Amino acid sequence: MAGQPSLYNAVVNDAVKPISWLIGRWKTEQGKGYYPTIEPFGYCEEVEFTSIGQPILNYHSYSWHPEKKNPMHLETGFLRIKPGTNELAFMVAHNFGLSVIEEGTVDGTTVVLKTKKINRMSFAKGSAVLVTVRTLSLEGDKLKQVISMATDTQPLTEHLTAIYEKVP
Ligand code: HEM
Repeated sequence: MAGQPSLYNAVVNDAVKPISWLIGRWKTEQGKGYYPTIEPFGYCEEVEFTSIGQPILNYHSYSWHPEKKNPMHLETGFLRIKPGTNELAFMVAHNFGLSVIEEGTVDGTTVVLKTKKINRMSFAKGSAVLVTVRTLSLEGDKLKQVISMATDTQPLTEHLTAIYEKVP
């Protein structure tokens, strides 16, 4: 459209340089899911962090069943850095009825985020999530993500571990 800027050719904002290693599309062969209340499961997932020149990374994740290929968990959000610091805030909407603000820090190539606020639809699926802790780290050229959560019935316990390769 005439006059509309091209968002995806933007230069990476200086403020997001500490988290620029996240930029790209990352795909896992098979992530592992587990929790005391459910049967362990495998899943495939693609996550994407993009920069459109703002001091924010845009985020999208979708996962699907390894054999049946049906979509599973979906997330979309924005990872904001407080310019000039290593302080992060991640706003994430989950398809099963949660919206979460996670806050934390980046240290080198490790991001640790913990929930600050959670909103849950009154008829959201599953138990009520009270806390999430998300760790994203680079291991060589692979991205690792571990997510733990506490619910109204369980203390803080790991729910997911996944290793992703960058999609060229
Ligand atoms: C921060 C991210 C996530 C949160 C907060 C979350 C939360 C939850 C909760 C609260 C439950 C119900 C546990 C219970 O009732 O005790 C659950 C179950 C489950 N989660 Fe997640 N989840 C997340 C990411 C994912 C992802 C990426 C997958 C990948 C496919 C996934 C797959 C499942 C499955 C298969 C179950 C069991 C069946 C079901 O309730 O649908 N979750 N999750």
